[in-house]
Amino acid sequence: MSTATQTIRTRVAIVGAGPAGLILSHLLADAGIDSVIVDQRTRGDIEQTIRAGILEQGTVDLLTAIDPSSRVHTVGTRHDGIELRFEGEGHRIDFPALVGRSVWLYPQHEVLKDMLALRLRAGQDLRFEVTASRVEGVDTPTPRVFATTAAGDELIIEADFVVGADGSRSVVRPAITGDAFNGHFREYPFAWFGILCEAPESSEELIYSNSDNGFALISQRSHDVQRMYFQCDPETDPTVMSEEEIWETLQSRVPGTTLKEGPIFQRDVLRFRSFVASELRHGRAALVGDAAHTVPPTGAKGMNLAVADVVLLARAVNALLVENDARLIDAYADEALKRIWKAQHFSWWMTSMLHTLPEHTEFDRRRQLGELRSVVDSEAGRTFLAEAYTGWPLA
Ligand code: PHB
Repeated sequence: MSTATQTIRTRVAIVGAGPAGLILSHLLADAGIDSVIVDQRTRGDIEQTIRAGILEQGTVDLLTAIDPSSRVHTVGTRHDGIELRFEGEGHRIDFPALVGRSVWLYPQHEVLKDMLALRLRAGQDLRFEVTASRVEGVDTPTPRVFATTAAGDELIIEADFVVGADGSRSVVRPAITGDAFNGHFREYPFAWFGILCEAPESSEELIYSNSDNGFALISQRSHDVQRMYFQCDPETDPTVMSEEEIWETLQSRVPGTTLKEGPIFQRDVLRFRSFVASELRHGRAALVGDAAHTVPPTGAKGMNLAVADVVLLARAVNALLVENDARLIDAYADEALKRIWKAQHFSWWMTSMLHTLPEHTEFDRRRQLGELRSVVDSEAGRTFLAEAYTGWPLA
């Protein structure tokens, strides 16, 4: 096979067509800044990504501003609260009453379908099956992304700014942090066993349940498809358990609620990690979303945090490229990190308050229940949770 090299030029090269990259290209286009997005996946693969489903109020406000007829309002559902369940009793956290905000259940792949259609309709240069391998020249005014097309040809994108929106295995990250693994890590000794099943809702709102047998989360996807998770060992092979065993495990972890069962058509094991890259920006390159940080899924912060990064970065890149003002880009990392570490804390806190560990002593267990009780028994406690869960207002 003969390989050719093509060099293209744009103002902002975006690696990754996930929510962060797509929303960023939209915000830049609004400011008159053109961009090229590359992603190693096919459009079909991107639209089938199974990820979390909760959007914060600020994320929904932004999606609505981008597209007033967004399907988040027709296909998605507003949730005005969640239930914390422990010692066999449910305790509702009423979001509007506590903080005047809500969240929406709208799966990430629906956001991706909407944003891909919108960007392609607007004429966005969006290239699928293009695998970026490295970034050079971030200390110069023209950083470059090196990539390979599906046909095996080399593609070089010359830009004024490069953005890594390419997830936890980012190839842009080393150009910013010096080494792909430079950052702050935390592993957790458990994972989530997730299922999708054909059944009606077991509950109108999400149930986060702490039980003596471990954690479970009862979530939804639609009136006839449900998403549920239970805490498991990270080494669990998702294919081994029978459907009967899965239902038994789930039922035993939400004492006081009877789950509506149905055929399970998808199962996966999600590992838990917390990560924040050591640097979010260097010269003419920056990181957003999972390329910059990972949170465990318990607080549903992942995609919302990516959106918050992008709002800040779009403004900073605009100031830099249109007004030649570097102040916002110089402040980007510090500004983004304030929210990132709040979300890291919230996700870690929800995770450690709700999951149980084999090595927990009776003291640990009772302390955990005391912690849950101090949240649900106090308006200040419930408000703290509601404020974080619905999301701190965007900049
Ligand atoms: C989900 O529905 O996939 C989901 C919801 C809430 C979470 C995590 C995942 O905290």
